[in-house]
Amino acid sequence: MMKKIGIGLLGLGTVGLGTYKVLKQQEAEMINKLGVELEVKKVLVRNIQKAAAKVEDASILTNDWNDILKDDSIEIVIELMGGLEPARTYIVEALKAGKHVVTANKDLVAVDGKELLDLAGEHHCDFLFEAAVAGGIPIIRPLKQCLAGNHLTEVMGIVNGTTNFILTKMTQEGMEFSDALALATELGYAEADPTADIEGLDAGRKVAILSSIAFNSRVVFDDVYTEGITKITAKDIHYAKNMDLTIKLLGVARLKEDGIESYVCPMLIPNDHPLASVNDSYNAVFVHGDAVEDAMFFGRGAGEMPTASAVVGDVFDIARNIQYNCCGRISCTCYKELPIKKMEDTVNKFFMRMKVDDKCGVFSTLASAFALNSVSIEQIIQRQSKNGIAEIVVITEPVVEGNFKKAVELLEAQETTREVSSIMRVYSK
Ligand code: NAP
Ligand code: HSE
Repeated sequence: MMKKIGIGLLGLGTVGLGTYKVLKQQEAEMINKLGVELEVKKVLVRNIQKAAAKVEDASILTNDWNDILKDDSIEIVIELMGGLEPARTYIVEALKAGKHVVTANKDLVAVDGKELLDLAGEHHCDFLFEAAVAGGIPIIRPLKQCLAGNHLTEVMGIVNGTTNFILTKMTQEGMEFSDALALATELGYAEADPTADIEGLDAGRKVAILSSIAFNSRVVFDDVYTEGITKITAKDIHYAKNMDLTIKLLGVARLKEDGIESYVCPMLIPNDHPLASVNDSYNAVFVHGDAVEDAMFFGRGAGEMPTASAVVGDVFDIARNIQYNCCGRISCTCYKELPIKKMEDTVNKFFMRMKVDDKCGVFSTLASAFALNSVSIEQIIQRQSKNGIAEIVVITEPVVEGNFKKAVELLEAQETTREVSSIMRVYSK
């Protein structure tokens, strides 16, 4: 008789249902692909009645976690409830019981990933989370396996679809942020509470995971500086376009001689960079390694079926490992303890838009505030003044962030400065 591996699915929401569907779609292929059958034996839900119409046989539904934990025929648990608790407790209990775990839960992995991987290692279990970063795009496995022969120095990407959709609408259709957000909500991209997306928190969790894996050193969500897109205006977009730049919410992980830089913020990137043309709700992750040079991974970063695709890929991997008795081969890959740099010590170019009195000497004030703090100008534009107020847009050469901030403080204190309207980092190699 062909061996069957039992699965316990926790959560039957967007990704949970997608995973159930993909496993059903693959039923006939499994024997050939894996040499084993997979069977969803139990699905944990909160409301059985509500979930009954979603599955072929409602008797697999339960609202008691112990029905899964205590069932020895269930060897793989797929956690798709989200949030920190009870997801963490259930995963810990499953691993301690010798069950392998797959999750898409970036909130949890960005905080407790190392502990959970170590626990999995202790119990010779697999703990896989490909779907936690950039949904359907394969990136965790490529970093841990296919690119393991590289010294990686940069992993950077568009890892939030909602904000990429909003910025695309602002760029291509001249929308203001609030109108683009309203459209994203209407089309179902943005959640009822879009804070985690628009403030860069969702991307920050993904960057913590990517940084840890890319540089073999632990980075948690609290280590990642995050800034969202709420302050970007149509005017900023307009200036960026005129300078052959595109504004994107980027998650950046860079390895420098003095430590790891890990942050999420809106950045202007040159239009000829491959990430500049990643539009709508698509995601992409750009990787630089000493051997591979540049590589880019592109696709759907969220959604029912794309995210389920990544979840099921992990489940299939575990099924093969079970067959060959080799689970727990790749556990936590963080074997270094590298320092994480403060944002003020990072180096970037800056875009600054400010309004000043159109008076003699204003440019020399700007120049001296910059010179005092070792800020050098790459480009400067002054628009024809209106009512005695001129708008100046500057792009600096790469500068230590702390120095640039001091120069801005000096400028803000000048009587001739009406406002510093916008400051954004500009990507440079
Ligand atoms: P979702 O649609 O809200 O689904 C979560 C499901 O889990 C809901 O049906 C919920 O039940 C159920 N649930 C929550 N707590 C439970 C509990 N204690 N016991 C039983 N069931 C419980 O969320 P989702 O979008 O599928 O996301 C699931 C996970 O995937 C999250 O970690 C998320 O970050 C991650 N993820 C999602 C996407 C995406 O595109 N959606 C992409 C990548 C990663 P109720 O219906 O009763 O609330
Ligand atoms: N809310 C996320 C996005 C998807 O907009 O990309 C889940 O990670």
